[in-house]
Amino acid sequence: MEKSAVERDEAAESDTFDLVTSHLPRMSDLANRIVGHYEKHAFAWDRDRQNGSWNDKVWHDRFIDRLGNGARVLDLGCGSGGPVAQHMVKRGLRVTGVDSSPTMISFCRDRLPNQEWIVADMRQLALGRRFGGILAWDSFFHLTHDDQRHMFMIFADHASVGTALMFNTGPQRGESVGVYRGDPLYHASLSPAEYEALVAQFGFQVLEHAANDAEAGGRTVWLCQKQ
Ligand SMILES: C[S@@+](CC[C@H](N)C(=O)[O-])C[C@H]1O[C@@H](n2cnc3c(N)ncnc32)[C@H](O)[C@@H]1O
Repeated sequence: MEKSAVERDEAAESDTFDLVTSHLPRMSDLANRIVGHYEKHAFAWDRDRQNGSWNDKVWHDRFIDRLGNGARVLDLGCGSGGPVAQHMVKRGLRVTGVDSSPTMISFCRDRLPNQEWIVADMRQLALGRRFGGILAWDSFFHLTHDDQRHMFMIFADHASVGTALMFNTGPQRGESVGVYRGDPLYHASLSPAEYEALVAQFGFQVLEHAANDAEAGGRTVWLCQKQ
């Protein structure tokens, strides 16, 4: 990942100006702000998601094509339910959506009252159930490196043989900080080799993978299946 302005500033100043840089938030602090960030910006984020062009639809159709009619999908970091969950339901799937933001989940309940919605942190999820599909879309990449590694255990605990798993990441190992509505927005990615190793270690196989997919807004996507 290319260095963000914050990283570059830290690198440039840390040797000589420790006192000056002490006001800059650490990466771990920025990662810890993600849950609060989405709750704070839920209304604005939902407006932007609904009004933006849905340039990632192509991958959602690939994911859905792997699932039988009526399959249940665990949507981790489901956001406000539109357009992703709405599309899954339209295509005959049943959705269990999990998000740490109560406001996001309230939007989901309004949009799709007949689906299952849970306010929870995906990093501690233990539903004791297995799903036909697991999706962690535009959400998993907000977790730290260690939290991402830990998520593979959670994916495996909610999967059975044949479960389709789709998540997106950065194209290479790193951490970066963007900005949304004036607040810093943390992202992290492991290396592609480490994702491949984790996928295999937890009994999944990569079916399709694309880095910086221009067809999907530049996303790096992993579509896998539990063996
Ligand atoms: C960029 S939005 C993506 C929403 C949805 N997947 C979509 O594609 O429209 C990221 C979502 O992940 C949720 N999220 C971030 N960290 C989370 C965590 N640790 N557990 C559960 N949800 C989380 C946020 O609240 C937010 O709704």
